Amino acid sequence: MIRKNYIKFAALWATLACTGCDDGLIEEKTYAPEHTGYTAKLTAHVTGLESWPEYYDVALAAFGSSEYSRTQTTVHPDTAGRVSLLLYNIGEEVETVEFCVTNTLRRRILTFARAEVSAAVGDTIYLDAGEVDASMYSAIQQVFDNTCAQCHGLSTTAAAGLYLTGERSHADLVGQPATTVEGTRVIPGDAEASVLHKVINPGNEAGLDFSHEGMINSSATLRLVDEWINAGAKE
Ligand code: HEC
Repeated sequence: MIRKNYIKFAALWATLACTGCDDGLIEEKTYAPEHTGYTAKLTAHVTGLESWPEYYDVALAAFGSSEYSRTQTTVHPDTAGRVSLLLYNIGEEVETVEFCVTNTLRRRILTFARAEVSAAVGDTIYLDAGEVDASMYSAIQQVFDNTCAQCHGLSTTAAAGLYLTGERSHADLVGQPATTVEGTRVIPGDAEASVLHKVINPGNEAGLDFSHEGMINSSATLRLVDEWINAGAKE
């Protein structure tokens, strides 16, 4: 029996070896898969990921000159919120690796932390993001900080009595009546009916004396605000 099997295997091996010689299959199998280019390594302690709707991906991503990532991998923290994640095969055309939020088209929505490829140590780009509040609201607050807070609370008086600074924005928006026009600033679950939506989208539908049209000109950011409201406008 043993002998019979041995002969069978010998015959099989001979067949494989011969076809293998022709197309190189056998040779390929003897090597472990190789990674080319740079490898990015993200370490972080992350909270708030569960607040993102499905349309978004919180990821470690590699970007060249475009706002669409070349390659990316989703961040999944362990039960304690720790992240230790590798992204392989980062090519020459990549300029930065980012701990960021993209949409399903892999377009960058916002970035929590980034590292330049030029700062690589050998083949590895280290990105230590530390403690990150990666909740959807922290993304919304980034928008307010960058484009709204200078008139809404960073100066002595907040326009329309609306504070869009970090400590107050959520309480001032959600369920609160607008002061300059009819309606509620943010109605959880109903972006279209919310004054905030009407104020920042084209058309000045809210009818403000001071039009906000064009303050946010990225459709991805306008959608982010709508998605947040429709997902329940949580903090
Ligand atoms: C250059 C100053 C300025 C900036 C920047 C600004 N706003 Fe305003 N905002 C105002 C003024 C002034 C009013 C009151 C308008 C009126 O009376 O017609 C107002 C009113 C509003 C209202 C209506 C509030 C209410 O209760 O009636 C909302 C909502 C609002 N802004 C949101 C934003 C958001 C979001 C941003 C950032 C994308 C922003 N604003 C940026 C000046 C500004």
